Amino acid sequence: MRLSGLSIFALLLVAAPAALAQVKSGSDFLSPEMHRQQDDEARNPGFLWTLQGEELFSRRSGDAPACLSCHAEPKQSLRGAATHYPMVDAASGKLLNLEGRIEQCRSERQKQPAFGYESPELLGLTAYVASLSRGLRLAVATEGAAKPYLEAGKAFYERRQGQLNLSCAQCHDDLVGARLRGDTISHGVGTGYPAYRLEWNGVGSLHRRLRACSLGVRATQFDYGAPEYLALELYLAARAKGLAIEAPGLRR
Ligand code: HEC
Ligand code: HEC
Repeated sequence: MRLSGLSIFALLLVAAPAALAQVKSGSDFLSPEMHRQQDDEARNPGFLWTLQGEELFSRRSGDAPACLSCHAEPKQSLRGAATHYPMVDAASGKLLNLEGRIEQCRSERQKQPAFGYESPELLGLTAYVASLSRGLRLAVATEGAAKPYLEAGKAFYERRQGQLNLSCAQCHDDLVGARLRGDTISHGVGTGYPAYRLEWNGVGSLHRRLRACSLGVRATQFDYGAPEYLALELYLAARAKGLAIEAPGLRR
């Protein structure tokens, strides 16, 4: 099925609400060749970012201790860490994604200025730490302190927005498998992020991808790290519970 622009409307009018199929990873909607390329460390360019992240992880930053000096043996000590993000930070009560946690260590423990969202440093470190959980299943907390954030994320996901007046769910639940501008619409989960996207010619965060979807329906693009996208990220992670982390993913 090939869709363009406003024909989505027509389609949604006639489409019976699809039975909620089991949520699948974005990789399952790639061509077989791209899927193989993603899984091959030698051919997935995203691994250049994880290598840079790994290098930065072990480097001292001025007087500050290296990440490695507190996180020795990261392949063991941080394996699985990414599966719990976003999570509510016990001290501040705020929702933190992996980027936020790394920035917290950067400013509070290394006492250095934050790297900033989408900086090569933060993308590299996030891709590196996420890659240490490749193959492990997402397992975010959704009860207790996380619950209000989860509900806000769900409400965002279901709300119609933008000039096209479309919700995330209308594409990523109801139109899964349909073709849109050369892509196959997936369930819209974040297990491959940070991901190398051909269109970006580089690695980008999940929030960069969310901004692209917001723009696609001519809705407000929230800032990187905005509370709205953090809550949405938690909801996407809850939908993807049990799916394996695949960062760095490879996308069109
Ligand atoms: C008009 C349809 C449409 C709407 C509405 C839409 N998206 Fe997307 N989205 C796409 C397309 C097309 C892609 C690229 C193909 C794919 O992976 O699904 C995409 C990709 C994504 C991805 C990346 C998946 C991956 O594995 O790379 C995520 C995450 C995502 N969308 C989340 C959202 C969220 C959250 C919203 C609501 C704010 C939203 N999208 C709204 C069409 C849409
Ligand atoms: C001075 C010691 C120190 C330094 C330097 C440090 N961290 Fe941390 N980091 C910690 C401690 C302690 C925690 C546990 C915080 C908590 O759980 O409340 C932590 C938590 C984390 C976590 C979350 C682990 C989890 O299981 O949730 C990540 C990821 C992380 N650090 C990455 C980094 C990165 C990347 C750097 C370098 C930019 C860094 N840290 C620098 C001490 C440090």
